[in-house]
Amino acid sequence: MKVWVPLPGIAQALGDLPGVEVGVYDGGAEFPPGVEDVEVWVPPFFGTPRTPEALARMARLRVVQTLTAGVDAYRPHMPDGVLLCNAKGVHDAGTAEWVVGAILAMQHDFPAFDEARREERWDYRFTGALADQTVLIVGYGSIGAAVERRLAGFEVEVVRVARTARDGVHGEDELPALLPDADVVVLLVPSTPATAGLADAAFLSRMKDGALLVNAARGPVVDTGALVAELNSRRIRAALDVTDPEPLPAGHPLWKAPGVLITPHVAGSTPASGRRALKLLRAQLERLLAGEPLVNVIEGAY
Ligand code: GLV
Repeated sequence: MKVWVPLPGIAQALGDLPGVEVGVYDGGAEFPPGVEDVEVWVPPFFGTPRTPEALARMARLRVVQTLTAGVDAYRPHMPDGVLLCNAKGVHDAGTAEWVVGAILAMQHDFPAFDEARREERWDYRFTGALADQTVLIVGYGSIGAAVERRLAGFEVEVVRVARTARDGVHGEDELPALLPDADVVVLLVPSTPATAGLADAAFLSRMKDGALLVNAARGPVVDTGALVAELNSRRIRAALDVTDPEPLPAGHPLWKAPGVLITPHVAGSTPASGRRALKLLRAQLERLLAGEPLVNVIEGAY
């Protein structure tokens, strides 16, 4: 079974699997020989503009296994009969740590104190805190549950929202009523046509004064223009690991907006994610070799 992975280190780690021939394709313009024989493709973490061509040329392809939780870059191009599996679970720890770290940094004003440090200013003042706050998790899945587990010691109230209501989880239709009571709103929804612009001007305007928007989902889930307007009026604050566009270009108004923490889409880029990704890849290949069903298969509106 021919498997293409994006990095030599991954190929090496999987090289002992019997019956598997692992090749490396880094997503560049040149396909290595044998593209038409690839049965399992693991694309590069940050994707490749060659995705549509790669998928068209991999005539024997059975599975695309992404290293990301989000599969927005693949869904529109998937050939019939080829399974798309995401990396659900792989980034739970890294992303949940980022979310909690970003919330704490913003509630305790770390970015402002770091600015004062650069100017050698002892900027004493009261700050916010996370204790006693309401944290609304929008897109409550495995990353949301990992965030909630990590928040368990912080004496907060967690409110969960998913597309459809289930036990203990509110439906998306309840968002307008829930937003005004949240001190922190964490976006973790997948990027789909249905979630594009979910956090639009109306959504943001329902957030309470001084509330914090945390985006660890995808940039297009937020209406950037509407967010910039809210930030510039200093009504709400934001911590963003993802932006629209990405990379955020020099001169973009988000860079200079007040009350915003921006990191360059790094929440899942940790050794913890790397270890979990290798574990997932190995387990998926073992399932394929044993003729067992794969996990994390993306079907319907996920
Ligand atoms: C990273 O952004 C991911 O989707 O896992």
